[in-house]
Amino acid sequence: MTQPSSTATAAALDEGNGSMTLSAPASGGSWDMQIFPGTEGPSVIDVRRLYADTGLFTYDPGFTSTASCESKITFIDGDEGVLLHRGYPIEQLAEQSDFMEVCYLLLHGELPSPKQKQEFEHAITYHTMLHEQMLNFYRGFRRDSHPMAIMCGVVGALSAFYHDSTDINDPYQRMVAQHRLIAKMPTIAAMAFKYSIGQPFVYPRNKLSYAENFLHMTFSVPAEDYQPNPVLSRAMDRILILHADHEQNASTSTVRIAGSSGANPFACIAAGIASLWGPAHGGANEAVLMMLEEIGHKDRITEFIARAKDKNDPFRLMGFGHRVYKNYDPRATVMRKSCHEVLDELGSRDEPLLALAMELERIALEDEYFVEKKLYPNVDFYSGIILRAMGFPTSMFTVLFAMARTVGWVAQWTEMIEDPNQKISRPRQLYTGPVRREYLPIDQRS
Ligand code: CMC
Repeated sequence: MTQPSSTATAAALDEGNGSMTLSAPASGGSWDMQIFPGTEGPSVIDVRRLYADTGLFTYDPGFTSTASCESKITFIDGDEGVLLHRGYPIEQLAEQSDFMEVCYLLLHGELPSPKQKQEFEHAITYHTMLHEQMLNFYRGFRRDSHPMAIMCGVVGALSAFYHDSTDINDPYQRMVAQHRLIAKMPTIAAMAFKYSIGQPFVYPRNKLSYAENFLHMTFSVPAEDYQPNPVLSRAMDRILILHADHEQNASTSTVRIAGSSGANPFACIAAGIASLWGPAHGGANEAVLMMLEEIGHKDRITEFIARAKDKNDPFRLMGFGHRVYKNYDPRATVMRKSCHEVLDELGSRDEPLLALAMELERIALEDEYFVEKKLYPNVDFYSGIILRAMGFPTSMFTVLFAMARTVGWVAQWTEMIEDPNQKISRPRQLYTGPVRREYLPIDQRS
C-alpha cells in the first residue's frame, strides 16, 4: 500500500454535543461530523458527507471499522461474548424458545402471542412443498455435486417459479417471499441430500414441527415408517436457533448488497448462500470435522497447534477465532452442551471425536498465542460433531447453516428494503493503478 501523504487528526470529540471535528494540518481544513449513539455498542461517526465536504474517502478493507447500515435486529458484544436477537440473549432463546418463535421474533421484532405463533406456523407449513417442476432441476446435477452447489442453483431458480412474490415494492409479496424461503429451504436441502445418495425425494409432512419435518424428509424412506427422535429433533431445532442470524456478517452483507440494487429476494438469498459457502464463514463446520479427523489422536494436538501458529503454514485452527467475538462465542457454549446430549442419546461412535475436540480446546485456550490474540471456539467448533452423529455427511453441514440463516437473511433484507435511508451499495476505492496514458497501436509495441 502507498505511504500516507499527510495525516488527519481527530482534534475534538464532543460526546455531549454528539459531534467530532476532524482536522487536516496539511491543508489547514477542519470538518464537523455527527456522532450517532446506538442503544448498545459503539457509537458511529457519520461520514456520509465526508467526500462531498473534504474530497476524501475512508479506507477500510474488510469493513473492520465500518457500520454499513442501521439495524434493530441483532446485537453482538464481541468482548463480552454476548449475542442478542431483538434484545433477547441467545442462551435464553436456545433453552426456552423454538425455531419458529425465533423466526417470528427476527422478522417482526417481538415474540408472538399464542395466536400469532399458530398463524405463523400455519403460513410456513402451507409453503413447504416445492413446485413439482423444480424436481427436474435436481436431475440435471451430477450425482456427486456438492449439496451447496445444488442449493445455490435451486434457490436462485425459485424466482423462475414464484413470479407472484418477486415485486419488492409490494409488502404482501415481500411477506409471501419471506414465508416461501423459510418454508422451502428444508425441502430443498433434504432433496439435495436425497439426490446425492440416490434415494427418492420425501415430501414434507405438515403435522410435524419444522425441525422434525426436516429430519423426516432427510432420513425417512417411503418403504419404512419413520418416527423422529425427540432428543435429535430438539437438538436440530437448537442448531437452527443458534445459526438464525448474526448481524452484518459476510453472507448477510452480501444479501443486503445484492438487494440494494432492487434484485428479487430469491436471487439475493442465492447470493448469500454463495458467500456462506467459503471455509472462513459457513464452510468452517465442515473444515473442523476434517481437521479433527486429520489430527486423529490427542498426542498430535501440539503438532497442529504449532502449525496454526506458524506464519509460513496456511493451516489455521478451524472453528477458532472470529471477527467480532474476542471472547467465547456464546453459541459455542450451547452447542457443546447439545453435543453431549446428542452423543449420550445415540451412544455414538463419535465420543472420541468430542473428547479430542475438548482436549484441543483446552490446550489452545492455555496457549499464549491464542490467549494473546483472543482466539476462542466459535459456533462451528462443535456443530460438526453433532451433525455427523445425527447422520449428516460433512457436505451437508453448510447446507444446514444456510437453511437456518435464511430467516436472518430475509429479516435483514426486509429491514433494508423498508429503510428510508437505503441506497444502492456502491463502495469507492483507493486507486493505485497506472495514471492516464495513451493507447499504443500493436505495431508500435516492442
Ligand atoms: N488459527 C490460527 N490463527 C488465527 C486463527 C485461527 N483459527 N484465526 C485468526 N488467527 C490469527 C491470524 O493469523 C491473525 O494473526 P496476526 O495478527 O499475527 O496476523 C490474527 O489471529 C487475527 O486474525 P484475522 O484473520 O486478521 O482475523 P479476521 O477477523 O479477519 O478473521 C476468521 C476471522 C473467523 C476468518 C478467522 O479467525 C479464521 O480464519 N478462523 C478459522 C475459520 C473459522 O472458524 N470460521 C468460522 C467463523 S464463525 C462462523 C461464521 O461466522 O461463519
